[in-house]
Amino acid sequence: MENFVYSVPTRIYFGKGQIQNLGTAVREWGGRALLVYGGGSIKKTGLYDTVMRLLKESGVAVTELSGVEPNPKITSVREGVRLCRENGVDVVVPVGGGSTIDCAKVVAAGACYGGDAWDLVIHPEKIGKVLPVVAVLTLAATGTEMNGNAVISDRSKNDKFGTFSQNMKPKASILDPEYTFSVSRKQTAAGTADIMSHIFEAYFNNVPGAFTQSRIAEALLKTCIHYGPVALEQPENYEARANLMWVSSLAINGLIGCGAPVGWTVHPMEHELSAFYDITHGVGLAILTPHWMKYVLNENTVGKFVEYGVNVWGIDAGLDRFEIANRAIAETAAFFKKLGIPATLREVGIGGENLEVMARKSVACMGNGFVPLRAEDVLAIFRAAL
Ligand code: NZQ
Ligand code: ZN
Repeated sequence: MENFVYSVPTRIYFGKGQIQNLGTAVREWGGRALLVYGGGSIKKTGLYDTVMRLLKESGVAVTELSGVEPNPKITSVREGVRLCRENGVDVVVPVGGGSTIDCAKVVAAGACYGGDAWDLVIHPEKIGKVLPVVAVLTLAATGTEMNGNAVISDRSKNDKFGTFSQNMKPKASILDPEYTFSVSRKQTAAGTADIMSHIFEAYFNNVPGAFTQSRIAEALLKTCIHYGPVALEQPENYEARANLMWVSSLAINGLIGCGAPVGWTVHPMEHELSAFYDITHGVGLAILTPHWMKYVLNENTVGKFVEYGVNVWGIDAGLDRFEIANRAIAETAAFFKKLGIPATLREVGIGGENLEVMARKSVACMGNGFVPLRAEDVLAIFRAAL
């Protein structure tokens, strides 16, 4: 295990009715809030009215940024920055899924930055002071509620990049699993696949001796495998929604990655798919993951796949190593199919036309991965996934 520094200063309010703490959590940071939300799901569920009432009762003046798109765009960020400046906003309050919260984080950073907010997306080191963010999560997937990441797109250039700052970690996040009862089948499945992918990205590493991180990761994967299908069949099953919500945060808040660093590879590949075709992030990940696994399975990596197959899928440890590994990969693909996620790129409208450029762009965003990939490797994975 390697040395690490681990700090997550986000205060989590988890469970039914925790929204009652919103006013106090926001008030701690000031009296003028920018409320950020997406295309209207919070209005349909009534959460918008609750949030507005609680903020008003706490004497918080609210400015609104609405209509944040899935795969949030830099244009929405710029609009949010403008609203913050014009209204002297003290605290940014996103209410929604990962897209809304990511947009809000970069708005909060951009409001304290002299130049254009896109600089902060492509140069994370330029992020300095950030307005405090107090988030209300409505979709279990990205883990943005408890980390310093944000992923922003510029459709005019087919660019989608992740940025990061310790200062973008929310000061507080309200996680009420009941808010996810209304999440559609498609988004529930995609969210589960996204959570699993975050775990895979950390779990498949080459660091010896990170036993604790690996066993935690396996427990988190088993949670997704157990509760993902339950949430699909019973959208109002509190236990399933609660477990998925908490696993979404734990998967990507640094817990399983600290001490066992590794460059992520499937996420940079998927970010190109959603940059070029605006598809749902978790769907792209579910399509690519089994093909990535097959591609990187070799004599050096088989041991990790055996751990995965035996500990997560319960495959007989007495079988041949490659037999275990291949069965584990097949189980992974079958699980995503069971969630109702398409298995090929063509099914989500992606053909062969941009594969080369997407492959080149994705490797530029990869660190030193479990198996380092070159553009031709990514291209082969994309082609296999077609
Ligand atoms: O916009 P509204 O109307 O709110 O509808 C949203 C949207 O259409 C809907 N939704 C959200 N909560 C709902 C709901 N519908 C009914 N009931 C609810 N309670 O779901 C749709 C998708 O929402 P979105 O926020 O886009 O989904 P998700 O949370 O999966 O976020 C995806 C974005 O996060 C990025 C992805 O790349 C993508 O841009 N990621 C962010 C990460 C991070 N910050 O750490 C890491 C991830 O790997 C990921 O890259
Ligand atoms: Zn993800």
